[in-house]
Amino acid sequence: MGSHTCVALIEAGFTPIILDNFSNSHPAVLQRLAQITGRAVVCEQGDVLDTPWVEAVLRRHQVAGVMHFAGDKAVGESVAQPLKYYRNNISGAVSLLEAMQAANCQTLVFSSSATVYGDPASVPITEDFPRQHTNPYGHTKLVIEDMLAAMQVADPAWQLGVLRYFNPVGAHPSGLIGEDPSGIPNNLMPFVAQVAIGKRPFLNVYGNDYATPDGTGVRDYIHVQDLAQGHVAALQRLLQSGESFTVNLGTGSGNSVLEVVKAFELASGRPVPCQMAARRPGDVAQCYAYPALAQRLLGWRAERTLADMCTDVWRWQSGNPNGYQ
Ligand code: UFG
Repeated sequence: MGSHTCVALIEAGFTPIILDNFSNSHPAVLQRLAQITGRAVVCEQGDVLDTPWVEAVLRRHQVAGVMHFAGDKAVGESVAQPLKYYRNNISGAVSLLEAMQAANCQTLVFSSSATVYGDPASVPITEDFPRQHTNPYGHTKLVIEDMLAAMQVADPAWQLGVLRYFNPVGAHPSGLIGEDPSGIPNNLMPFVAQVAIGKRPFLNVYGNDYATPDGTGVRDYIHVQDLAQGHVAALQRLLQSGESFTVNLGTGSGNSVLEVVKAFELASGRPVPCQMAARRPGDVAQCYAYPALAQRLLGWRAERTLADMCTDVWRWQSGNPNGYQ
């Protein structure tokens, strides 16, 4: 998400500075970004938990606004290792905000998630739906949202854009950057891509008895390029209006697991064998956004189709079978 947003920021005339400890990313991405954008992107290597270092970087580059992507995001891992999530996500956000405060930088775009809606009572989901959490990862997003709201009360000068992502998939159309999960992918699209390329024999479809048209889970898959442009629109809105906001970033429509599989087979020309499996604990039947607020506030809406998402993932996967290695 960070690398794709860097490209979108450069295209919109911003100069991004990357801060990364490369715990869940690869330095090779910097070379790829240079290839795509035709310019070297500055990267400072360090940890978001190191508050004085973050402050020094913000000061050195006279940073006007921050986008905070540095969170862990695997639901299952968060259940097994909750402290890792509370430390990296919550302590990481506290550290970043302290550094921003010290450096007099009060403009932040924060990566939240549709996970804050838990198991929604209905779909599509609007921003005023009740929030709940079903795992430590979701809890960290909820706590950080609350922390941001409290800071806004304490100091109205903060300009805070909270973006609730639905299901980001896809890759840059160049095929040079994309998702490179370590180990067995947790999420549907990277798993499907690895089945199509022959790395894994079949996809487990987690449940075909949900109350959905074909019985499999329905999600709001959104192209990472659309999401990247949503970040740029959010930053521009904050810098222009000075007003804080919380918005859903989704397409407004859902697709089932089997629809994703079909679309991927079509885009790749490869079969994706499936095996029905038990429901995955914690999964909900349907989750998709009502995205009108983002359109009204940011003048943004998702434009790319499920076919675009699959085509771009396949270009990335087939051109980089081992990711950035
Ligand atoms: N699925 C399978 N087989 C797999 C993987 C997933 O059938 O191997 C199904 C799931 O059961 C679900 C759908 O594919 O119905 C999507 O699953 P993902 O794991 O890709 O995405 P989730 O909706 O579970 O999770 C995503 C983000 C989380 C976030 C959550 C809610 O990955 O970070 O949305 O916003 F918390």
